[in-house]
Amino acid sequence: MLVLGIETSCDETAIAIVQDGTQILSNVITSSAATHALYGGVFPELACQHHIDLFLPTLEQALHEAKVTPQEIDLIAVAKGPGLIGALLIGLNAAKGLAIAWNKPFIGVHHVEAHLYAAMMSTPKPWLFPALGLVLSGGHTLLLKIHGVGSYEILGTTVDDALGEAFDKVAALLDLPYPGGPHIERLAQLGRPERFPFRAGFVKKQPLDFSFSGLKTAVLYAVKGPNGSKRTPSSLDEATRQDIAASFQQAAFLDLIEKSRKAQALFPCQAIFFGGGVSCNLRLRECFADAFPSLPLFWPQAGLSLDNGAMIAGLGTHKFLQRGQQSDAFDLEAKPRIHIN
Ligand code: KG4
Ligand code: ZN
Repeated sequence: MLVLGIETSCDETAIAIVQDGTQILSNVITSSAATHALYGGVFPELACQHHIDLFLPTLEQALHEAKVTPQEIDLIAVAKGPGLIGALLIGLNAAKGLAIAWNKPFIGVHHVEAHLYAAMMSTPKPWLFPALGLVLSGGHTLLLKIHGVGSYEILGTTVDDALGEAFDKVAALLDLPYPGGPHIERLAQLGRPERFPFRAGFVKKQPLDFSFSGLKTAVLYAVKGPNGSKRTPSSLDEATRQDIAASFQQAAFLDLIEKSRKAQALFPCQAIFFGGGVSCNLRLRECFADAFPSLPLFWPQAGLSLDNGAMIAGLGTHKFLQRGQQSDAFDLEAKPRIHIN
């Protein structure tokens, strides 16, 4: 079964072709991040313009790399939400247009669920449930209990910034470009995580929820220096910038581990599945491997942590088969916010 996956929920125009749910024939990702870097975050109108300009070239490249013709495609899968409404509408309407033009079924899938599915389609091993799920992206931070594909219970979420967003904001405080995650990871490799005693927030009465805004403010004060002095990032010595990055990253990851441990104590957890842009961080992977040495940890393969079309095609395949190969109706709407169930 050949499935075309379309992802346009934020600043990536991403189209992939996946065979039988796991075999990635092409996974083309074009990003407008460089444009947004000028503004320090995603500028929705510019993201939409990028999707409109890049959709057809990205589609052509995805077909070309996979050596597949439109006639051979069996299904079109598309991210229907959550995300930026204008950006989602471009992908969804394009999917509907292609479904009409090529006379193919189409299916809308949940973007965050697809981030979790990325880890599932990355392993040849049998999936183990019930499992814990951690989605760590620029827009979402979710701790979930996974009963099976399509059956989730949200255990915790962020009450302020998403983890990727916190990485991006801390990067901005250190004068690093957007998106900041990979830059913080690189800087942190050379830093001393014990130098700054940062801690992520504790949410009263919701021990599995996350809060990263206080951590971000602590970084701001560390950058500014003691006694309200007004140091700027450019006046910091390199070792201090490295130590701030390492201490921030460590505090954030220890918080994820602590909350995962608490969640694990609630049910017979067989594995942890990770998804979202932050899940490509190698230090995060090391920290979890150390903290949970006997629990199988499922990570997205290279190219499937950040937004991509392959995870949309993979989840689309699974859902389409699960529901007896029914196409969605053409009145399917894009939703900026939707629950994962
Ligand atoms: O999943 P994603 O592509 O987009 C959303 O659905 O939001 O995640 C993007 C986020 C950005 O905030 C980016 O800074 C972060 O993932 N990120 C990282 C790393 N690579 C990307 N964060 C930490 N370490 C990384 N290596
Ligand atoms: Zn995403």
